[in-house]
Formats: sequence, C-alpha cells, structure tokens
Amino acid sequence: MEHPTDNPALHLPWLMRPTPGRLHDFFADGHNNLWVDRELGHDLLAQASCLPPAAAANWDFKTRVTRLAARRGIHQFLELGCGYARREHTMRADRWLPTVHRTAMDATATPGNVRIVYVDHDPLVMGYARALLDDCDAVRTLEADILDMPALLTAPQISGHLDPALPVAVTLTAVAHWITDDPALHHAMDSLVTWLPPGSTLSITHATADHHPQTATALAQICTRAGLPLRLRERAEVRALFCGLPLLSPGLTATENWRPEQRAPYRSAAWAGVAVKGAPAVAR
Ligand SMILES: C[S@@+](CC[C@H](N)C(=O)[O-])C[C@H]1O[C@@H](n2cnc3c(N)ncnc32)[C@H](O)[C@@H]1O
Repeated sequence: MEHPTDNPALHLPWLMRPTPGRLHDFFADGHNNLWVDRELGHDLLAQASCLPPAAAANWDFKTRVTRLAARRGIHQFLELGCGYARREHTMRADRWLPTVHRTAMDATATPGNVRIVYVDHDPLVMGYARALLDDCDAVRTLEADILDMPALLTAPQISGHLDPALPVAVTLTAVAHWITDDPALHHAMDSLVTWLPPGSTLSITHATADHHPQTATALAQICTRAGLPLRLRERAEVRALFCGLPLLSPGLTATENWRPEQRAPYRSAAWAGVAVKGAPAVAR
C-alpha cells in the first residue's frame, strides 16, 4: 500500500531541522531523535534542567485524563499530535506504546470496545506508529495536519472507526504551542469542538511564560533560533482554545497541579485543563 511518506522529497524538511516529536523523544530518553534534535535538547537543558520531568508531567496528565474519560464511560480516544510512543515500563518490559493506548486498555471496563485514533503531521512519527500499531484492531493511524481539521475529521481512519453518536476523549497535549498561526489554530479548534459528540472531553496542555517568564522566554528564543518556533500563550489564550466549553474542576492549572496523584518535585511551564462538551462541569 502506498503511503504519503513514500515520496523521499517529503522527508527532507523533517530531517534537516529539529522537530517537536523528536525533541520530546529526546527528553523521554527514546531512540527516535537525530543530531539536530539532540543539539537543541542540550541547549534547552542548559537553560532548564527540569525539562525531562516537565515532559513526564505532561505524560502523567495524559494518563490521568485518559483514566478520567474511561471512568466517565468513554471508550473512544483521539490523540491529536500524538508524537512518538514511550517505553512502557509497567505493563510489558521494553515495549513501546503511546500513553493513551496503554492507559485506555488498562482503564476501560471493556477493553475490547476501545477505539483509538492517533494523528500527527510528522511522516516519521506516523511511520513509527504504523509499525507499532497497524496490527491492532482498536487503533487507526492518520497522517494529517490539525490545521486542516475538516479534512482530518472526515478521513476514513476517523469517520470509519469512531462512532459519531458516542463521546470521544480528545487529547491535544504539548502540541498547540508548536502552532504559531493563531487564526488558523482557532479555526481548527472551532471545527473540532463543533464536531465533538456530546459528553466528549477535550484535554489540552500548553507551554506558557505565565509561571516562569524569564526561563520560558529564553527557551522559546532558543527553539526559534534553531528553526522550531515556539508560541507561548497566556492563560486567557489557552482558555480560548477550548472554544467556550466548560472546564472540569480545578480549571486551568499548571500541568502537575491538575488533580495530582502525587506531589511533583518541580514546577512546569505549562497550562493544563479538561473541558466537557454538553455536560455539567462536575468533578468526577
Ligand atoms: C511535543 S510532541 C507531543 C506529543 C504528545 N501529544 C504528548 O503529549 O506526549 C508534539 C507533536 O505534535 C505534532 N504536531 C505539531 N503540529 C501539528 C499539526 N499542525 N498537525 C499535526 N500534528 C502536529 C508534532 O509533530 C509532534 O509529534
């Protein structure tokens, strides 16, 4: 079967500059990163040594919100900007799985009903996801740009896999700050929220300068100089990405403070929140 990634010319831009997916993989001690990513990663670490635990806080948030969705009876999951899978320590030694995948399988009362779609526009991320997950009935992988949300949502990997009558748990974690075009991002989020079936959850984490202005601004400058622009957004701008949906308590918080299960030894530079469509904002 031919994939969009079969054209080698399409790979070149992804190899010559650092990418968000490979940078995150570097902080996760993964094997899917190149020299350009490691060089940027080391520059960032020299400025803020807390970046790997902050990335871990982001993954832990994703685990908590996936469990929350399962508790609310949701068994359809859509991860937008999924990035590379991480090494799975707890379930099967040395297995690489996306966080949403293992959490949904663990947390959902009837794992046989779980449906998951992973989306990323990075052809290398999606090639790896296909290699890991294509034999898994519960999963579809889709190489697509979030900024073209109508095309994304009507792709057969989504329209043929997710039941539009049932709620979906959508995660957009550590993704939107890599999108600098504000109007296009808002347009995409509007389309997404309009499409969401009632009862769906939308979980977002997003880098900000609100908590540690000097460090966050310095990190953004380093990224931008390396050819990877980082758009830090203020609290109100992150709130606006939920397009008016009510937030579950405790609202927008630093990632590690969103319903923490244990005390984090660091403070992240990101906002985190979970909204529910068409349902009262009660904590469950
Ligand atoms: C830093 S990684 C985060 C991965 C994962 N969401 C997590 O929280 O661990 C950001 C991912 O978003 C993807 N991404 C960024 N902009 C995107 C866009 N416009 N469309 C689709 N994916 C995008 C990148 O390719 C990358 O894999």
